[in-house]
Amino acid sequence: MQTEFNDWMTERQQGIEHALDEFLPDPKLAPARLHEAMRHAVLSGGKRIRPLLAYAAGEVFGATTQHVTVAACAVELVHAYSLVHDDLPCMDNDVLRRGKPTCHVAFGEATALLAGDSLQTLAFELLTHEGLAIPAVARLDMIRLLSQASGSRGMAGGQAIDLDSTGKSIELPELEMMHILKTGALIKASIQLGALCGKAPYPAATEALNRYAHAVGLAFQVIDDILDATTSTQDLGKTAGKDAAQNKSTYVTLLGIRHARELADDLHKQALAAIAPLPASQHLADLADLIMDRKS
Ligand code: IPE
Ligand code: IPE
Ligand code: MG
Ligand code: MG
Ligand code: MG
Repeated sequence: MQTEFNDWMTERQQGIEHALDEFLPDPKLAPARLHEAMRHAVLSGGKRIRPLLAYAAGEVFGATTQHVTVAACAVELVHAYSLVHDDLPCMDNDVLRRGKPTCHVAFGEATALLAGDSLQTLAFELLTHEGLAIPAVARLDMIRLLSQASGSRGMAGGQAIDLDSTGKSIELPELEMMHILKTGALIKASIQLGALCGKAPYPAATEALNRYAHAVGLAFQVIDDILDATTSTQDLGKTAGKDAAQNKSTYVTLLGIRHARELADDLHKQALAAIAPLPASQHLADLADLIMDRKS
């Protein structure tokens, strides 16, 4: 089974790598430096978890890999933009990402800001792409879901709470809200967009997927907090120990590593239980396992 999942994953990661390379502007095109910065931020190094979730959700509704690829790239581009901005000196001020210098270290702050902006708009442009071969109504749903997940009531809003709560002690419900927004929202959108690439989801399936997405999205950031406190910079490909050094509010600071891990395990069980009745949901289950067991 694991071999089947690993093969499935490798094939899709290669497909995503290739598609992202195709969709990103040619680095020789003007303004070349901006295009190089966009490519630096996106290509080589990401785990591509969000695209994989989109493919796995699409499978539940019979979507073909080809159909999901464009939507999966759109989500990954928004994610890459969020990382470029997250690393800026005015935010987490990080110098290492995916084992490479962060975008602003390599290209300067102004170019990194514009690269983030341009990745975000490219993501939405892709959703109008005819290669998507999805009815216009479903594409509008995708654009709406991805906008909401990215904006002030989604990722950007969660980032605002993150910055606001840095150096302060916050309560668990606020921390949960912050994590659901800054990370969970885009993970949920990946799953929703993947599902929209297949045949119309029926209400019980939508509800099951939403419960899975909620649990996996929150667990993803809980694990990210744990990894920040327990894993080396080399293994992470980003600066370890950053949350403590910057006085961030995280599940590790609020609950400690052991209780944070217990919470993640509980969310893992909730995610698996939610999708158990769905057909063709094995890869969603495998991805939940991977998100829990990951080392970076
Ligand atoms: C890192 O996300 C930022 C968070 C939202 C926790 P990933 O761990 O998916 O980063 P990449 O894409 O693999 O680099
Ligand atoms: C970032 O959270 C979430 C985003 C929306 C990018 P973190 O700040 O913990 O992500 P890392 O640890 O830098 O990847
Ligand atoms: Mg951050
Ligand atoms: Mg950060
Ligand atoms: Mg982190």
